[in-house]
Amino acid sequence: MLSAAAKVNLVLEIRGKRADGYHELATVMQAVDLSDRLVLDEAPGLGLAVNTDGVPCDATNLALRAATTLREAAKIDRGVHITLDKRIPVAAGLGGGSSDAAAVLLGLNRLWGLRWPAARLAEVATALGMDVPFFLRSGASLGTGRGEVLEPVVAGALALVLVNPAFGSSTAEAYGRVTPAMYTDGSRARKLAELLRTRQAARVAASLYNGLEAAVAPHHPEIERMRAALLAAGALGAAMSGSGPTVFGVARSFEHARQIRARLTRASWRCWAVRTLAGPAVRMRTSTMSSLGRGQAARRGTLDPVFGGSNPPAPTTIGRGRR
Ligand code: C5P
Repeated sequence: MLSAAAKVNLVLEIRGKRADGYHELATVMQAVDLSDRLVLDEAPGLGLAVNTDGVPCDATNLALRAATTLREAAKIDRGVHITLDKRIPVAAGLGGGSSDAAAVLLGLNRLWGLRWPAARLAEVATALGMDVPFFLRSGASLGTGRGEVLEPVVAGALALVLVNPAFGSSTAEAYGRVTPAMYTDGSRARKLAELLRTRQAARVAASLYNGLEAAVAPHHPEIERMRAALLAAGALGAAMSGSGPTVFGVARSFEHARQIRARLTRASWRCWAVRTLAGPAVRMRTSTMSSLGRGQAARRGTLDPVFGGSNPPAPTTIGRGRR
């Protein structure tokens, strides 16, 4: 069983356009405790089952691409069946697909006995997407380059409220709308990385920034509505995450985050009160108990207390029969 956390971008600055077509970024990414669950089972070929409508199960799925890419990079003839229990909204700016891909890389490194060091996995991760390397790590990072050059950031715990309008936003389209007027110098990201140490939620909230908002928000008026609703409900500050459309607000405490969440009553919005994670974005549990079928394992795994639920631990099957 793997738990793959979402992230928010507390700051996302676009510094310019690169010769390779990507944008030069300075961003502070922070993992939060809204997580997908994955079970990896030995199998003859590569396969994927997802519990959510609208999530592709074909080769376009980043979790499956992670397995394919790692198998090719390792030059081995091994298979895996991935069961993906999706809780992070898709195309939401929360890095869900990237986190699933990182979880598959870490899980298969173990399941296939590769023993690759983190730096080698990070190369494969970067080939899958610029957000993927972040999820191989812990807590918060300052990302530069295309977002894949990472420095760890010491971060105090924060409570946040995530609001998602139940439609997706394309990352490539968002970056495609960026103009030089949206470029900034990266100092906001560095300042926020320093501030995060202080545990002062109000100062962090006042320093949130996302340069992509100017490219995305005019096309999705809901983004301004979500921000206004978060602030009206008591959030200390609010910003869009990544390429959106999810907007998050900073609360004084987790209890405060729950109060804010309860005040957001618009039926079409999905809202979560979450805590930031200091530990690994991907967490792995192995077990010698392997009697559950895939579906059952995925369902029971959702209640695993290690991942924030309240029921007894579920038997899990990563490395089934091998450990
Ligand atoms: O890295 P990822 O595949 O998630 O990026 C999706 C798209 O977003 C890229 O193809 C590129 O158009 C854009 N992008 C960018 N600059 C970055 C990261 C992504 O222009 N630093």
